[in-house]
Amino acid sequence: MYALTVLPNTADSVQVTELPDPIPGAGDLLVDGLAVGICGTDAEIIAGTFGTAPPGHDRLVIGHESLGRVRQAPDGSGFAPGDLVAGVVRRPDPVPCGACAHGEFDMCRNGRYTEHGIKGLHGFASEAWCVEADYAIRLDPRLEPVGMLLEPASVVAKAWEQIDRIGARSWFEPSSVLVTGAGPIGLLAALLGVQRGLDVHVLDLMDHGPKPDAVAALGATYHHDGVAAAAAGAPPDIVIEATGAPALVYEAIDHTAKCGIVCLTGVYGPSRPAAAAYREMVMENDVLFGSVNANLRHWSAAADALAAADPDWLGRLVTRRVPLAEAPGALDPGDDDIKVVVTLE
Ligand code: BGC
Repeated sequence: MYALTVLPNTADSVQVTELPDPIPGAGDLLVDGLAVGICGTDAEIIAGTFGTAPPGHDRLVIGHESLGRVRQAPDGSGFAPGDLVAGVVRRPDPVPCGACAHGEFDMCRNGRYTEHGIKGLHGFASEAWCVEADYAIRLDPRLEPVGMLLEPASVVAKAWEQIDRIGARSWFEPSSVLVTGAGPIGLLAALLGVQRGLDVHVLDLMDHGPKPDAVAALGATYHHDGVAAAAAGAPPDIVIEATGAPALVYEAIDHTAKCGIVCLTGVYGPSRPAAAAYREMVMENDVLFGSVNANLRHWSAAADALAAADPDWLGRLVTRRVPLAEAPGALDPGDDDIKVVVTLE
């Protein structure tokens, strides 16, 4: 079978590689790959700045935003051939730490977790793959064209759960959220905000095209003139930052309502926040926190959220589909791209 692989720590080593067919272990599903989504983490792995191959392997199969169809399932696994599934990205560390022992491997304390397609485990950008039945998530069959969005949705479901838990430190009835960045994470965060009945605002740079259109189709408000203008109507109770631009973080802290919560989901460079932002946080009881990855609770919340969404709206997020054979060299997102997907059939 063929897979999309890289030589970790080597820029632009991405290629289509022939590998032996996977052999399912006891308790594993054998899955025919349908598609994987490509994200910023994949871009870092392809650039050679992130990613680790499995022990004993030189190359890493990439792809952690998976979608496949079960070919073979063990009896009693709860899965059957034909089921649409995604594979959970992270596995608990082997110690395990307290968080991993409690199923909260997204909050692993010792960093020895592994991640499919990222850290120490092959990913899902292959014509076939195996996954433990306990780490497979079934998708509504209507989601076949867009099911690779489940992984980014799980990351967003976790962020929202953490916002709720942090909000519960005192009285908390948020009415509005500002999402900065109209990429897949930002748009899925906006979707979940709308599903929660919030007044949702989304900020991005583009002034026309698929991003503003997707926000409008969600019934949310699109902005492209900066945080201050986006917050001018009413300061947001919650900001979900999904661009990775540090300047937006400082501005977000400045423009939240009192007791505001700013959730960071982007990948930021090494610059440090200014003292003025810290002062604002203290004076207003603001919370700034980071959120990464997702545990099984979040994956199932995400599957419910996608099943409740309009599949046509989700389809707007997938702006380009590239066949596996053409994937190397075709993965950089264009200005109007939201999610680029590699098809594996
Ligand atoms: C993935 C997460 C992962 C993180 C760091 C993100 O792109 O969505 O599941 O934990 O990268 O490796």
